[in-house]
Amino acid sequence: MVEGKRLKISTRRSEHCWFESSRVHMEIEYLEKFNELQDTHTFKGQQWFGKRGDLVEEYSWAVPNEEVLTYLAEFDKLVEIGAGDGYWASEINSAGGKVMPYDIKPSDEWTHVERKDVFCMDNEIFEKPILMVWPALNKSVATEVARRKPNHILYVGEQRGGCTAEDEFFDLLDEKYGLVAKIDLPSYVGIHDNFFHYVRKV
Ligand SMILES: C[S@@+](CC[C@H](N)C(=O)[O-])C[C@H]1O[C@@H](n2cnc3c(N)ncnc32)[C@H](O)[C@@H]1O
Repeated sequence: MVEGKRLKISTRRSEHCWFESSRVHMEIEYLEKFNELQDTHTFKGQQWFGKRGDLVEEYSWAVPNEEVLTYLAEFDKLVEIGAGDGYWASEINSAGGKVMPYDIKPSDEWTHVERKDVFCMDNEIFEKPILMVWPALNKSVATEVARRKPNHILYVGEQRGGCTAEDEFFDLLDEKYGLVAKIDLPSYVGIHDNFFHYVRKV
């Protein structure tokens, strides 16, 4: 994370939303900057070493849209594992949700993230729906989550064979879970991010 940045606790619900009739529209700063990048940069400029790296460092590895934030805000309580600096948790909370974010190396950049290694977490944590945004490939974080058998897995990333999670995770999903919702997400060049909601089979 960038040193010397001010803590951005998300008290920004009013700043990020405006009302029109009875609908609430979210203003998602990251999405706006992402769209600007698509519009103003060439293919080369959208690569990792360009502005994209700065956006990922400032916000998150994946870009949320209004549909996914609204969906996630409807859960009573979520646990996020591998939450990084808490950007998604902060946005979901701003949209009216309640997320408890954890990471092995938290930074508290956007909201407070509790320091915890997924391999050392109590089983009761997995009684809540678990959110993972871009769990790293071959670190087994996603696989460990699926092994703990939460009823709901809310996963943002690529599908099997992509650059997030690992085959063992997708094997467990195929065997023990059913897909109940999928939302297309904005993706950087060469990436195919989606949100997937899996529910454990009884
Ligand atoms: C690719 S980053 C994604 C971070 C964040 N979700 C985002 O979108 O910016 C993967 C995250 O997993 C965390 N992580 C890696 N191993 C972990 C572990 N054993 N337990 C908890 N978090 C872990 C890393 O510290 C990192 O923040």
